[in-house]
Amino acid sequence: NVTAITGFVSRTEPDPKWEFPRNQLKIEQTLGEGEFGRVLRAQALNIGNQPGYTTVAVKTLKDDAGERELADLLSEYQLLKEVSHPNIIKLLGASTVPGGPVYLVIEFAEHGSLRNYLRRSRHLHTDLHIQTNPMQNLSQPTEHYDEPKICDITPNEILSFAWQIANGMAYLSDIKLVHRDLAARNILLASEKVCKISDFGLTRDIYQDDAYFKRSKGRVPIKWMAPESLSDHVYTNKSDVWSFGILIWELVTLGASPYPGIVVQSLFHLLKTGYRMERPENCSVILYKVMRSCWSLDPEKRPTFSELSMKFEKMLGDKV
Ligand code: ADE
Repeated sequence: NVTAITGFVSRTEPDPKWEFPRNQLKIEQTLGEGEFGRVLRAQALNIGNQPGYTTVAVKTLKDDAGERELADLLSEYQLLKEVSHPNIIKLLGASTVPGGPVYLVIEFAEHGSLRNYLRRSRHLHTDLHIQTNPMQNLSQPTEHYDEPKICDITPNEILSFAWQIANGMAYLSDIKLVHRDLAARNILLASEKVCKISDFGLTRDIYQDDAYFKRSKGRVPIKWMAPESLSDHVYTNKSDVWSFGILIWELVTLGASPYPGIVVQSLFHLLKTGYRMERPENCSVILYKVMRSCWSLDPEKRPTFSELSMKFEKMLGDKV
């Protein structure tokens, strides 16, 4: 691992299998921005086996990004080359040859991030519905569907999202990858409402280094983190399961922010002493039991992603 030894990241040799010429990308607009990164929408000419233009997402760095962020982007590139699953975002190519910015070319997800999609869907229902019992009311048509292109969310769809994400995560567990930043903001929604796990910048191979240390700087998703990650910087598939429990909570609340009113400084103590978010009003008891099982203090007591997948499959079959 050259990076660990030298602390310096050089752009490795371009990979001919994936290299895509920058001049075949027509950048159209910014889709999202982070502290150091940016996702752009672009048209890619003759990418993969697709003749003509294909709408793609291009992940790149901002000018003030440093070596650390470049390392994360290149690490995401290496990981995405290795993964292939319907619920994981697909890499289409990359532009890494010197003389321009590093671009990861990724499949475009037409509905954007799941968090934003969930929040947009709220406007379809009256505030009253959200505050009282959205999961029940959502399945019934309301009179507020005037706007075109309205996204209609049903309880079964929520379960389907959870099931799809569990499937993608079960695959990542199988290939020994730990995501470390699982949250609704990092799930993309593609056409046919297919969930795609994305943002692999923090993902690590658990065989490469079996404990993961939090970066000294950079945004840390405290409210999605398992207690052992907060205290000991330990990240495993079981800490991903904890985050998945928070993600289910985000789904049920249509994209609310977890632990409302709780400052991050007090969270660890609260969790250690048994505090957990209460059952959202619209959440079934059975679904709440699932999220609570993800929040077992003992990582070994948490379910695996394949167990979670089977659970959701059954719930979907039962037409909850
Ligand atoms: N926002 C971030 N990544 C995206 C992608 N791949 N497709 C659509 N919107 C995005």
